[in-house]
Amino acid sequence: MKISKELISESEIQKKINEIGNLINQDYAEKDLLIIGILKGAFITISDLAKRLKIDVSFDFMSVSSYEGTESSGQVKIEKDLDIDITGKNILIVEDIFDTGLTLSYLKNILESRNPKSLEFMCMFIKNTEKEIPLDIKYKGFSIGPEFVVGYGLDHEGKYRELPYLAVLS
Ligand code: IMP
Ligand code: MG
Repeated sequence: MKISKELISESEIQKKINEIGNLINQDYAEKDLLIIGILKGAFITISDLAKRLKIDVSFDFMSVSSYEGTESSGQVKIEKDLDIDITGKNILIVEDIFDTGLTLSYLKNILESRNPKSLEFMCMFIKNTEKEIPLDIKYKGFSIGPEFVVGYGLDHEGKYRELPYLAVLS
């Protein structure tokens, strides 16, 4: 496979990150926030977003997997859990892409059971907009089609994460 076309440019992505950063700065101006990045895909989103924040914020990371190659396996597995106890904290989960919703639904269940004070989601790319999203994503990046995409943290078999734009493979 090789990259066939750029879908969302670096400057469009950076503009969106700025907008979302501003919203988060407003929404959490008076509150402590713990951002949970879902590895590996969200590492670039988190690092770009972090630089825009002017609030009291900490970070932790979780690693989950559901994909094998370009297909969802239908099961989510925690590869690395959080280091921090989230009880009583304001939590924002940052995920790279929303496809079937399996990953975020699973994380919502697990993390709600740990009794955070609040739990919100940010998702950089959302696939197949016509289908119903089973949870409320407070901060949304871009809606995209059903194609398999890479770049801006997203991989195909470990490759292409470093691209500063979003691209389609063929
Ligand atoms: P979901 O659980 O089906 O919503 O899938 C979410 C996870 O699948 C994401 O965190 C990605 O790791 C992976 N994924 C889904 N679609 C793509 C894609 O187009 N490119 C790369 N990874 C994807
Ligand atoms: Mg992922």
